[in-house]
Amino acid sequence: MSTDKQPLLQPYESKNLKLRNRVVMAPMTRSRANNAEKAATGDLQGTYYEQRASAGLIITEGSQVSEKAVGYINTPGIHSAAQVAGWKEVTEKVHAAGGTIFLQLWHVGRMSHPDFHNGDLPHSASAINPNSKSYTPEGFKDTVAPKEMTKEDIEQTIKDFANAAKNAIEAGFDGVEIHSSNGYLFHQFFNATSNHRTDEYGGSKENRARFLFEVLDAVKQQIPIQKVGLRLNPSLHGIFGMTMDEDTIPTFDYIIEKLNDYDLAYLHLSEPFTDVSEIPYAETQIAKRYRPIYKGTLMINSNFDQEKGNQVIEDGDADLVAFGKPYISNPDLVERFEQGVELTDWDQDTFYTPGHKGYTDYEAKTAVKA
Ligand SMILES: Cc1cc2nc3c(=O)[nH]c(=O)nc-3n(C[C@H](O)[C@H](O)[C@H](O)COP(=O)(O)O)c2cc1C
Repeated sequence: MSTDKQPLLQPYESKNLKLRNRVVMAPMTRSRANNAEKAATGDLQGTYYEQRASAGLIITEGSQVSEKAVGYINTPGIHSAAQVAGWKEVTEKVHAAGGTIFLQLWHVGRMSHPDFHNGDLPHSASAINPNSKSYTPEGFKDTVAPKEMTKEDIEQTIKDFANAAKNAIEAGFDGVEIHSSNGYLFHQFFNATSNHRTDEYGGSKENRARFLFEVLDAVKQQIPIQKVGLRLNPSLHGIFGMTMDEDTIPTFDYIIEKLNDYDLAYLHLSEPFTDVSEIPYAETQIAKRYRPIYKGTLMINSNFDQEKGNQVIEDGDADLVAFGKPYISNPDLVERFEQGVELTDWDQDTFYTPGHKGYTDYEAKTAVKA
């Protein structure tokens, strides 16, 4: 394929988004905010994202909306003045390099540990242990049965998301992505296996989705809804504490149909993270199922390479493609696609280690365009 014809490299323009290409940097936790404030810095996160600014869009790592939202070490927050100031240094660098950057808003729910909360239990829809591991300051520990959130806890969390969205715009982000994916708090409400509530937040699919829509309604009081993206991973099964059942896909069908009522920047979907072909109630083709249902901008992720990325856009199944691990080791991913330059492998051992090593020291092999 002649490079100038590659769908991935075409500009993208919708009512709410104007991007110089369709290559998105997927959100990735890198655990480099090892300071007392849990703040991003211009030196570390700023340099890292600036190096990747030729992406059509950067979505940052998950950033906790409150202390209660934390579940991993050294993740940067967006709920304090110091954190807003830190992220500001990052957005300034990315914008100076011509990039566009959204902040991912995160609450891990039960995928946390009492060690992060002075011994108090993490929060979730129901008191059901995900039987997973939490990466605490003392290493991996078994998760516990969380506290079932009260109405007050839910109201407070809704406020925390709205406040975090406002903070993100104050820090100079072009928008936010709600992390309602990958087994974290919203996902714990969506799936019947993790949500046994008997109030208006449990039982029916409408009830299990209610918390998400209440958050969206609160966020849009603070920032334009056109600056809000949202991430879902419908066929997540057997990892991050998630188990699908026959209600799961109908619940996501309902959510995604209803998202048409919200004028979002985009909907970010993941193809299944694992082989779910043997699970009778899983959907194996996420983009194909949801492209006809969702009317706005559709971003797809998980295991894409250049060829598959070009193909999914060519087929009309998605508008944008988010690349995760390839972006860790290829800051100039767009230019490498453009010039047919071989990709550098990523080093898994430095995904979550502190400092510049394995973070900002992957070199560009092309002249990156400003
Ligand atoms: C090191 C690492 C950290 C990640 N952290 C996040 C995160 O903070 N938020 C999120 O939504 N997904 C996160 N993911 C998932 C990625 O966004 C993406 O869905 C996944 O890597 C699959 O895409 P890929 O095959 O292009 O890497 C992470 C993945 C990796 C490898």
